[in-house]
Amino acid sequence: MAIAAGAREVFTKGCRDIMRFFIDSADVSEIRDLAATGLVDGVTTNPSLIAKSGRDFVEVLGEICALVPGPISAEVAATDTTSMLAEGRYLAGIAENVVIKVPLTPDGLKACRALTDDGTPVNVTLCFSAAQAILAAKAGARYISPFIGRLDDVGADGLGLIADLVEIYSAYPTFTTEILVASVRNPEHVVEAAKMGAHVATLPPAVLRAMFKHPLTDKGLEAFLADWAKTGQTILKQPSQGTDDAKPTRRRA
Ligand code: G3P
Repeated sequence: MAIAAGAREVFTKGCRDIMRFFIDSADVSEIRDLAATGLVDGVTTNPSLIAKSGRDFVEVLGEICALVPGPISAEVAATDTTSMLAEGRYLAGIAENVVIKVPLTPDGLKACRALTDDGTPVNVTLCFSAAQAILAAKAGARYISPFIGRLDDVGADGLGLIADLVEIYSAYPTFTTEILVASVRNPEHVVEAAKMGAHVATLPPAVLRAMFKHPLTDKGLEAFLADWAKTGQTILKQPSQGTDDAKPTRRRA
């Protein structure tokens, strides 16, 4: 999992200020709820998530694109390049922020090159090796999606793959492909990938919610509130307790 000296510096130079978070879901109400935190930069969907939603793909995709202004990945269902291109161009027409997701197959990478040349960003999915990620970068992918949880599930090292990709992509600064850490199972995956400088993590809603939690935060807040109650004070005065004249004057920090 170690990254070669200097690689992280070179790699992160091209990154925006901080790791971006996408939501890995096709549940519109869940996405709406999480988008309200202001922490969501995009969304990824896949056929399994669409099936889980029980809704029409195109309808759901339109709603998500209107809800979140960032990149929204929509995956093709075809397996041959010609049909992938037809599906990808149709889906890309739904909204300006659609990113087309294609599987990491020879046909998928041919579709990736053609869509990229048309100006449509592509997310190459189902990546399980560094060799595959090199091919995706050469095919012009905007994002590569390494599935780290599924690698861990079979006894391989998901985060080790992220470290390899950071090292390889940083060796070729002309690669514009961003590492989109996928199949994330817990906050620790996010922390470790962020330490390596991965550009994006796509998070199941439960993982983003879990990232807020720490028992000492809950305990500390409980103690603060109990002590505050003892003071008998309120920060905002009740109408009966004051007038507009009582408003504090804001001072410069
Ligand atoms: O969106 C693709 C990826 O994140 C799937 O994750 O949990 O089905 O392995 P998972």
